[in-house]
Amino acid sequence: MKMVLLGPPGAGKGTQAERLSKHLDVPTISTGAIIRNEIKEKTQLGVEAHKYISEGKLVPDSLVISMVKERLSKPDCSKGFILDGFPRTIEQAQTLDSMTDITKVLCIKVKDEEILNRLSGRRECKVCRASYHIMYNKPAKEGICDKCGGELICREDDTVETIKNRIAVYHEQTEPIIQYYASQGKLAVVEGRDDVEDTTKAVFEALDI
Ligand code: AP5
Repeated sequence: MKMVLLGPPGAGKGTQAERLSKHLDVPTISTGAIIRNEIKEKTQLGVEAHKYISEGKLVPDSLVISMVKERLSKPDCSKGFILDGFPRTIEQAQTLDSMTDITKVLCIKVKDEEILNRLSGRRECKVCRASYHIMYNKPAKEGICDKCGGELICREDDTVETIKNRIAVYHEQTEPIIQYYASQGKLAVVEGRDDVEDTTKAVFEALDI
Protein backbone atom coordinates (compact mmCIF):
# COMPACT_ATOMS: atom_id res chain seq x y z
CA MET A 1 0.00 0.00 0.00
CA LYS A 2 1.26 3.50 -0.91
CA MET A 3 -0.47 5.75 1.57
CA VAL A 4 -0.70 9.39 2.52
CA LEU A 5 -1.69 10.45 6.05
CA LEU A 6 -3.27 13.91 6.16
CA GLY A 7 -4.47 15.99 9.08
CA PRO A 8 -3.71 19.07 11.14
CA PRO A 9 -0.70 19.30 13.46
CA GLY A 10 -1.27 17.01 16.42
CA ALA A 11 -4.03 14.99 14.72
CA GLY A 12 -2.14 11.81 15.57
CA LYS A 13 -0.59 11.16 12.15
CA GLY A 14 2.75 10.07 13.61
CA THR A 15 1.07 7.91 16.28
CA GLN A 16 -1.14 6.11 13.76
CA ALA A 17 1.64 5.90 11.14
CA GLU A 18 3.75 3.90 13.58
CA ARG A 19 0.93 1.36 14.10
CA LEU A 20 0.10 1.15 10.40
CA SER A 21 3.75 0.70 9.52
CA LYS A 22 4.02 -2.32 11.84
CA HIS A 23 0.79 -3.84 10.57
CA LEU A 24 1.47 -3.30 6.85
CA ASP A 25 5.22 -3.91 7.12
CA VAL A 26 6.10 -0.80 5.10
CA PRO A 27 8.25 2.18 6.16
CA THR A 28 6.86 5.49 7.42
CA ILE A 29 8.31 8.56 5.80
CA SER A 30 7.79 11.62 7.99
CA THR A 31 9.04 14.79 6.33
CA GLY A 32 8.94 16.57 9.70
CA ALA A 33 11.20 13.90 11.24
CA ILE A 34 13.61 14.01 8.28
CA ILE A 35 13.83 17.81 8.53
CA ARG A 36 14.37 17.69 12.32
CA ASN A 37 17.18 15.20 11.77
CA GLU A 38 18.80 17.48 9.16
CA ILE A 39 18.57 20.35 11.68
CA LYS A 40 20.19 18.20 14.37
CA GLU A 41 23.01 17.21 11.98
CA LYS A 42 23.41 20.90 10.98
CA THR A 43 23.35 20.06 7.25
CA GLN A 44 22.82 22.84 4.68
CA LEU A 45 19.18 21.76 4.29
CA GLY A 46 18.79 21.71 8.07
CA VAL A 47 20.15 25.24 8.47
CA GLU A 48 17.85 26.50 5.70
CA ALA A 49 14.77 24.63 7.05
CA HIS A 50 15.26 25.66 10.68
CA LYS A 51 14.04 29.23 10.23
CA TYR A 52 10.74 27.99 8.75
CA ILE A 53 10.06 25.12 11.15
CA SER A 54 10.80 27.22 14.26
CA GLU A 55 8.11 29.73 13.19
CA GLY A 56 5.59 27.06 12.22
CA LYS A 57 5.85 27.89 8.50
CA LEU A 58 6.15 25.35 5.70
CA VAL A 59 9.63 24.62 4.40
CA PRO A 60 9.78 25.61 0.68
CA ASP A 61 8.36 23.01 -1.73
CA SER A 62 11.62 22.65 -3.69
CA LEU A 63 13.55 21.51 -0.59
CA VAL A 64 10.90 19.08 0.65
CA ILE A 65 10.14 17.58 -2.77
CA SER A 66 13.77 16.69 -3.48
CA MET A 67 14.05 15.15 0.00
CA VAL A 68 10.99 12.95 -0.61
CA LYS A 69 12.11 11.99 -4.13
CA GLU A 70 15.38 10.71 -2.74
CA ARG A 71 13.69 8.80 0.12
CA LEU A 72 11.11 7.13 -2.16
CA SER A 73 13.89 5.84 -4.42
CA LYS A 74 15.30 3.68 -1.59
CA PRO A 75 14.73 -0.12 -1.90
CA ASP A 76 12.62 -0.38 1.30
CA CYS A 77 9.89 1.70 -0.39
CA SER A 78 9.44 -0.75 -3.27
CA LYS A 79 6.50 -2.62 -1.69
CA GLY A 80 4.86 0.47 -0.27
CA PHE A 81 5.17 3.29 2.27
CA ILE A 82 3.24 5.62 4.54
CA LEU A 83 3.81 9.32 3.95
CA ASP A 84 3.28 11.31 7.16
CA GLY A 85 3.23 15.08 6.63
CA PHE A 86 3.70 15.03 2.85
CA PRO A 87 2.17 16.41 0.67
CA ARG A 88 1.24 19.67 2.38
CA THR A 89 0.60 21.89 -0.65
CA ILE A 90 -1.16 21.33 -3.95
CA GLU A 91 2.21 21.63 -5.71
CA GLN A 92 3.62 18.84 -3.52
CA ALA A 93 0.54 16.66 -4.21
CA GLN A 94 0.82 17.16 -7.98
CA THR A 95 4.54 16.36 -7.91
CA LEU A 96 3.88 13.22 -5.86
CA ASP A 97 1.32 12.10 -8.46
CA SER A 98 3.98 12.48 -11.15
CA MET A 99 6.39 10.29 -9.13
CA THR A 100 4.17 7.38 -8.08
CA ASP A 101 0.61 6.03 -7.81
CA ILE A 102 -0.85 6.65 -4.36
CA THR A 103 -3.26 3.89 -3.33
CA LYS A 104 -5.08 5.54 -0.45
CA VAL A 105 -5.22 8.84 1.47
CA LEU A 106 -6.40 8.93 5.07
CA CYS A 107 -7.28 12.22 6.73
CA ILE A 108 -7.52 12.36 10.54
CA LYS A 109 -9.73 15.28 11.61
CA VAL A 110 -9.29 17.00 14.98
CA LYS A 111 -10.74 20.31 16.19
CA ASP A 112 -8.38 23.29 16.60
CA GLU A 113 -9.09 23.55 20.37
CA GLU A 114 -8.01 19.94 20.93
CA ILE A 115 -4.77 20.40 18.95
CA LEU A 116 -3.35 22.87 21.46
CA ASN A 117 -4.06 20.46 24.30
CA ARG A 118 -2.43 17.56 22.50
CA LEU A 119 0.71 19.33 21.34
CA SER A 120 1.43 21.13 24.59
CA GLY A 121 1.39 17.71 26.34
CA ARG A 122 3.42 15.88 23.72
CA ARG A 123 6.85 14.53 24.64
CA GLU A 124 9.31 13.06 22.15
CA CYS A 125 12.27 10.77 22.69
CA LYS A 126 15.53 12.64 22.14
CA VAL A 127 17.15 9.46 20.77
CA CYS A 128 14.60 7.38 18.78
CA ARG A 129 11.94 10.11 18.32
CA ALA A 130 9.08 7.95 19.68
CA SER A 131 6.09 10.13 20.61
CA TYR A 132 4.21 10.22 23.95
CA HIS A 133 1.65 12.38 25.72
CA ILE A 134 1.72 13.30 29.41
CA MET A 135 -2.00 12.37 29.77
CA TYR A 136 -3.12 10.25 26.80
CA ASN A 137 -0.09 8.15 25.94
CA LYS A 138 2.16 7.97 28.99
CA PRO A 139 5.49 6.16 29.08
CA ALA A 140 5.86 3.47 31.77
CA LYS A 141 8.42 5.66 33.58
CA GLU A 142 7.94 9.44 33.52
CA GLY A 143 10.38 11.25 31.21
CA ILE A 144 11.93 8.03 29.87
CA CYS A 145 11.29 6.37 26.50
CA ASP A 146 9.76 2.85 26.77
CA LYS A 147 11.51 1.77 23.57
CA CYS A 148 15.11 2.86 24.03
CA GLY A 149 15.42 4.44 27.49
CA GLY A 150 16.15 7.87 25.96
CA GLU A 151 15.17 11.16 27.59
CA LEU A 152 11.73 12.57 26.67
CA ILE A 153 11.70 16.25 25.62
CA CYS A 154 9.30 18.89 24.17
CA ARG A 155 9.59 19.63 20.47
CA GLU A 156 10.92 23.12 19.64
CA ASP A 157 7.79 23.90 17.54
CA ASP A 158 5.35 22.85 20.29
CA THR A 159 5.10 26.33 21.87
CA VAL A 160 1.65 27.97 21.99
CA GLU A 161 2.52 30.70 19.46
CA THR A 162 4.11 28.30 16.96
CA ILE A 163 1.26 25.80 17.30
CA LYS A 164 -1.22 28.60 16.42
CA ASN A 165 0.84 29.45 13.32
CA ARG A 166 0.99 25.78 12.29
CA ILE A 167 -2.81 25.49 12.58
CA ALA A 168 -3.30 28.63 10.43
CA VAL A 169 -0.83 27.32 7.81
CA TYR A 170 -2.67 23.99 7.77
CA HIS A 171 -6.04 25.64 7.03
CA GLU A 172 -4.58 27.89 4.34
CA GLN A 173 -2.13 25.68 2.50
CA THR A 174 -2.79 22.03 3.34
CA GLU A 175 -6.57 21.70 3.68
CA PRO A 176 -7.17 22.17 -0.09
CA ILE A 177 -5.40 18.83 -0.61
CA ILE A 178 -8.35 17.03 1.02
CA GLN A 179 -10.57 18.01 -1.93
CA TYR A 180 -7.74 17.22 -4.38
CA TYR A 181 -7.67 13.58 -3.22
CA ALA A 182 -11.46 13.34 -2.73
CA SER A 183 -11.89 14.16 -6.42
CA GLN A 184 -9.53 11.26 -7.23
CA GLY A 185 -11.74 8.90 -5.16
CA LYS A 186 -8.81 8.01 -2.86
CA LEU A 187 -9.86 9.76 0.34
CA ALA A 188 -11.04 8.22 3.63
CA VAL A 189 -11.72 10.45 6.64
CA VAL A 190 -11.80 9.55 10.35
CA GLU A 191 -12.48 11.69 13.40
CA GLY A 192 -9.48 11.68 15.74
CA ARG A 193 -10.96 10.30 18.99
CA ASP A 194 -10.01 11.19 22.55
CA ASP A 195 -8.28 7.88 22.89
CA VAL A 196 -5.36 6.56 20.83
CA GLU A 197 -6.73 2.97 20.71
CA ASP A 198 -10.19 4.11 19.55
CA THR A 199 -8.58 6.17 16.81
CA THR A 200 -6.47 3.22 15.67
CA LYS A 201 -9.63 1.09 15.46
CA ALA A 202 -11.36 3.77 13.33
CA VAL A 203 -8.28 4.12 11.10
CA PHE A 204 -7.99 0.38 10.46
CA GLU A 205 -11.74 0.14 9.75
CA ALA A 206 -11.59 3.06 7.32
CA LEU A 207 -8.74 1.36 5.46
CA ASP A 208 -10.47 -2.03 5.57
CA ILE A 209 -7.49 -3.72 7.23
P1 AP5 B 1 5.51 17.52 11.29
O1 AP5 B 1 6.55 16.89 12.11
O2 AP5 B 1 4.91 16.74 10.18
O3 AP5 B 1 4.40 18.06 12.30
P2 AP5 B 1 2.82 18.23 12.17
O4 AP5 B 1 2.17 17.90 10.89
O5 AP5 B 1 2.59 19.59 12.70
O6 AP5 B 1 2.30 17.08 13.00
P3 AP5 B 1 2.79 16.64 14.38
O7 AP5 B 1 4.00 15.77 14.27
O8 AP5 B 1 2.90 17.82 15.30
O9 AP5 B 1 1.52 15.84 14.88
P4 AP5 B 1 0.95 14.42 14.47
O10 AP5 B 1 -0.29 14.60 13.67
O11 AP5 B 1 2.00 13.51 13.94
O12 AP5 B 1 0.49 13.95 15.91
P5 AP5 B 1 1.19 12.95 16.94
O13 AP5 B 1 0.95 11.53 16.53
O14 AP5 B 1 2.59 13.35 17.24
O15 AP5 B 1 6.05 18.87 10.66
C1 AP5 B 1 6.72 19.83 11.43
C2 AP5 B 1 7.18 21.00 10.56
O16 AP5 B 1 8.05 20.51 9.52
C3 AP5 B 1 6.08 21.75 9.81
O17 AP5 B 1 5.49 22.74 10.61
C4 AP5 B 1 6.89 22.35 8.64
O18 AP5 B 1 7.63 23.46 9.04
C5 AP5 B 1 7.88 21.23 8.31
N1 AP5 B 1 7.35 20.30 7.28
C6 AP5 B 1 7.10 18.97 7.46
N2 AP5 B 1 6.61 18.43 6.32
C7 AP5 B 1 6.58 19.43 5.41
C8 AP5 B 1 6.15 19.51 4.05
N3 AP5 B 1 5.66 18.44 3.41
N4 AP5 B 1 6.25 20.69 3.42
C9 AP5 B 1 6.75 21.79 4.04
N5 AP5 B 1 7.14 21.79 5.32
C10 AP5 B 1 7.07 20.62 6.00
O19 AP5 B 1 0.24 13.24 18.20
C11 AP5 B 1 0.32 14.49 18.88
C12 AP5 B 1 0.18 14.26 20.41
O20 AP5 B 1 -1.15 13.80 20.71
C13 AP5 B 1 1.13 13.17 20.94
O21 AP5 B 1 1.54 13.54 22.22
C14 AP5 B 1 0.26 11.90 20.98
O22 AP5 B 1 0.69 11.00 21.99
C15 AP5 B 1 -1.13 12.47 21.28
N6 AP5 B 1 -2.20 11.73 20.62
C16 AP5 B 1 -2.18 11.14 19.39
N7 AP5 B 1 -3.37 10.59 19.11
C17 AP5 B 1 -4.19 10.86 20.17
C18 AP5 B 1 -5.55 10.57 20.48
N8 AP5 B 1 -6.34 9.90 19.63
N9 AP5 B 1 -6.04 11.01 21.64
C19 AP5 B 1 -5.27 11.69 22.51
N10 AP5 B 1 -3.97 11.99 22.29
C20 AP5 B 1 -3.44 11.60 21.14
